[in-house]
Amino acid sequence: MRVVFIAAECEPWAKSGGLGDVVDALARALRLVEGGPDEPVEVFLPRYRSVAVPAGALVSTVVRVPDPLAPGGLSEIPIIEVAADGYRLRLVDAPAAFDRPAYYGDGRHDYPDNPWRFGLLCRAALETLAVESRPVDLLSLHDWHAAPVALYRDRFYRDDPVISRAAIVLTLHNLAYHGWTPIEQVGQLGFGVEDAQAVWDAAGIDLLGAAIVRAEIVNTVSPGFAREALTPAFGMGLDRLLRAKGDRFLGILNGLDTDLWDPARDPVLAAPYSRADRSGKAACRVDLLERVGFDPDDGGPVLGAIGRLDPQKGFDLIAGAAERLLGLGARLVIQGSGDHELAEPLRRVAAAHPARVALIERFDREMARRIYAGADLFVMPSRFEPCGQGQMIALRYGTPPIVRRTGGLADTVVDVDEQPGRGTGFVFDEPTPEALLAACRRAIELRRAGGEPWQTLLERGMAVDFDWRSSSAPRYLEVFRRAIELRRAALGSS
Ligand code: GLC
Repeated sequence: MRVVFIAAECEPWAKSGGLGDVVDALARALRLVEGGPDEPVEVFLPRYRSVAVPAGALVSTVVRVPDPLAPGGLSEIPIIEVAADGYRLRLVDAPAAFDRPAYYGDGRHDYPDNPWRFGLLCRAALETLAVESRPVDLLSLHDWHAAPVALYRDRFYRDDPVISRAAIVLTLHNLAYHGWTPIEQVGQLGFGVEDAQAVWDAAGIDLLGAAIVRAEIVNTVSPGFAREALTPAFGMGLDRLLRAKGDRFLGILNGLDTDLWDPARDPVLAAPYSRADRSGKAACRVDLLERVGFDPDDGGPVLGAIGRLDPQKGFDLIAGAAERLLGLGARLVIQGSGDHELAEPLRRVAAAHPARVALIERFDREMARRIYAGADLFVMPSRFEPCGQGQMIALRYGTPPIVRRTGGLADTVVDVDEQPGRGTGFVFDEPTPEALLAACRRAIELRRAGGEPWQTLLERGMAVDFDWRSSSAPRYLEVFRRAIELRRAALGSS
């Protein structure tokens, strides 16, 4: 089985959120599963300005890619080959599209030509595969950035022996971003007005929506979010299309790369620790407090939070509850990157209480690890959450999560008061500062009481098996096989 991923992020080369982690970990894990692909998975990724291309990486091919914005309508695009950890990374080197300060936009606005940029990524990937002329069984598309692949396959590659036969599985990590392309811009994707009408409507193309229709199978990253996405409240305007897929739309819970995320082998931590011997966690806590300028001997509960500054993640709920959390004795260590305006309320609280609230406004991989390990509790009050990774890491690092009952958070965290013998964290329902506060209060009280109930909670969390190899990657393989059968059956009967 030859599997090709197309994505806008892939750790450690390019990441703004969980998408990058999942693309990397899944590409590697598939090969480790029995019956997995017999050659390394290929991952097509833009060569952004910040991608550190290793010395010795070779250009395997220079493809001539149809590009409506290039002089003569063709761009020559080098494909740079990088031997990644367990898969094959293929960087699409199109400087006009990707040699920019950021991946998607300036932090306030998306780049206006994003449909063209990611359209070019997709077209370059397909041209490369077509020119190489070796069969591809499965195209694994991640989010809207890869959605044009589905449209291109059915419009430009109907007679191409490689591309037309490839099955498509579209994985939805984020339903909020559709890649809406207004009619004035569909030309940048290589489409005419009639094409737009045929695949979507006269106003333009919803790339994600159009790919949902065309993919053999669509999945999202947890069973809980798969159910929610079928409703207007969570479907972001695509719920009708998802309902129409019937059993060809499903949820597969993300795994966690348990080698990359392991407090016993995390080189960044002040001291290693494990489920059997958690003593090192205290040193991690002191280290964190020192680094953020708090009193290292302070025994008050340290609440950590990490995420993109995006309305999805509910940082406003933390800001709304912050003063009252401080009233409960809490210390807050928050790391967020992205939309700087969203950080304003947190910035004010941090400025007012520099010894008790720390706001780290950058994307900092090492600091994130120190927060997961050094905090006593981890807060994740997302409005919606297709899967979420922070809560899984927090569990593995012995830092009980406090989460909203939504999507993948509800699938991965068990409330300890609702199920005392099974609980791993604290779950609340309403997206309000009050509900968050009430859950934090329960958590803080349990920690203060200490003893066996608290220790058992940590231990149970650390024991949860999120390893990709255990169930998530095998499930993807099953779904890939089914998609391949569906594609073959459709071609056979046409
Ligand atoms: C997106 C989702 C998040 C998910 C991640 C990886 O970032 O918002 O819930 O965990 O993708 O699938």
